Amino acid sequence: RVGRTPLMAGNWKMNLNHQEAVVLVQKLAWTLSDKRHDYGKVEVAVFPPYTDIRSVQTLVDGDRLDIRFGAQNVSTHEEGAYTGEVSAGMLAKLGCSYVIVGHSERREHYGETDEWVALKARIALKHGMVPIVCVGEGLAERREGNHVAFCTNQVDRSLDGLTAEQVAGLVIAYEPIWAIGTGETATPQDAEEVCAGIRAQLEVSYGGEVADSVRILYGGSVKSNNVAALMQEPDIDGALVGGASLQVEEFAAICRYY
Ligand code: G3P
Repeated sequence: RVGRTPLMAGNWKMNLNHQEAVVLVQKLAWTLSDKRHDYGKVEVAVFPPYTDIRSVQTLVDGDRLDIRFGAQNVSTHEEGAYTGEVSAGMLAKLGCSYVIVGHSERREHYGETDEWVALKARIALKHGMVPIVCVGEGLAERREGNHVAFCTNQVDRSLDGLTAEQVAGLVIAYEPIWAIGTGETATPQDAEEVCAGIRAQLEVSYGGEVADSVRILYGGSVKSNNVAALMQEPDIDGALVGGASLQVEEFAAICRYY
């Protein structure tokens, strides 16, 4: 994994009230400042609901705390009469480093297509944020044995219109739908098979140098007791963590997996 800093990303999803979010990020910052562990080996980022981003920004602002943050979604529109939407420009102004695009929950519950995901990725990049592009197969594709092709196709289509230079700075998250929130993690070998397939596909489309620089995360029931084995795999560069990122000690233990 030469040159790729592991990224541990905590996706809080639609959880926590405002006070709980503030307490969580404060405790996390406190825990990560514990000098007995070298948390500097990984990059840590949290993804609060929109309503908590400003508070998280205030709490982690400055180089005192090395926690980055981002949004769980972004509008496909830049501005205007789009009631309920939040634009990339607004998120960039809040100091977001990242935007998650194409999470399976958005694809499934809100009908987001690869085309939308690509559009969101382009808009995030335009505003200086790094998209975390999510892909992942359902149980049906896994059972049919089509999972690698399914995911590489999703990657292909979700990166439509991006330049090789833009792709080089991306983060891709492989999250098999059957492993999300179910307690059923993919084995390290299962996860590596798809992550390696994605990297191989990136190499074909954008060249070896670009493929080598993209960080590919695994997500789906990542916990402190399974993260180390996943991170042993050569093509897994970090984790997108849901449930376990809501517990400070557990998330911190994931961040110091090594
Ligand atoms: O984005 C993270 C995710 O969908 C995984 O959730 O709860 O299985 O860690 P969880």
